[in-house]
Amino acid sequence: MNDILQNQIAYYRARAGEYDEWFYRLGRYDRGPELNQLWFEEVAQLVEAVRALTPIQATLELAAGTGIWTTELAAISQHVTALDASPEVLAINQRKVGNRPVSYRMVDLFEWQPDQQYDLVFMSFWLSHVPPERFDPFIAAVRRAVRPHGRVFMIDSLPEWTSTAKDHAAYQPDSIYHTRKLNDGQEYQIIKVFYDPDDLKRRLAAQGLAAEVHTTGRCFWWAQARPV
Ligand SMILES: C[S@@+](CC[C@H](N)C(=O)[O-])C[C@H]1O[C@@H](n2cnc3c(N)ncnc32)[C@H](O)[C@@H]1O
Repeated sequence: MNDILQNQIAYYRARAGEYDEWFYRLGRYDRGPELNQLWFEEVAQLVEAVRALTPIQATLELAAGTGIWTTELAAISQHVTALDASPEVLAINQRKVGNRPVSYRMVDLFEWQPDQQYDLVFMSFWLSHVPPERFDPFIAAVRRAVRPHGRVFMIDSLPEWTSTAKDHAAYQPDSIYHTRKLNDGQEYQIIKVFYDPDDLKRRLAAQGLAAEVHTTGRCFWWAQARPV
């Protein structure tokens, strides 16, 4: 398991410069006008839900990536702390965010323990990369990172096959192992877990987080949770 988690870090490090093509439906992720439109309409629902979180003092963003959501969080928070294991994606994130109040830490989230509490703990497209046996300890750490009246906000993928690149194999519903390719054809094995919203709610509740889980239609789910 440790090998695949290291592989996952290596994949996102190597993919840093082409990562945003996925979110903006470019190149291998361009699925044509209709599916792209569906994707962006569903993204708009996510943006609306994130903007409704305002105002926030201290936000912690886990696996912040290239800053697609960091810029949104910086607009509604007094300060954002952004963690990621990849120096390459953090450099892109920093360029995108400019002089907004964001500080960065290079952290392996499977080693991470919170050293302070935040009003908002945010993660997008990260929970699906947490192996099932690491879910409970990871969420327990997230729970410890939230202030008593704070919130956790998560976004992730539904098992919609058109979300990924055209040259990726279709998702196997019963496997958490997926092969991903870079633009140059290099392949990496990663973990991708798809959650059933009711099951996710139960699993979060077992770790002391009361959650509401929504789907945007075909592409995404988002959840908001409070410590209980
Ligand atoms: C799917 S991307 C999500 C990025 C961003 N949250 C977004 O929505 O665009 C997953 C991120 O997790 C980071 N990552 C992978 N393994 C990690 C680990 N063990 N600890 C911390 N970050 C990790 C990658 O570098 C990558 O930026």
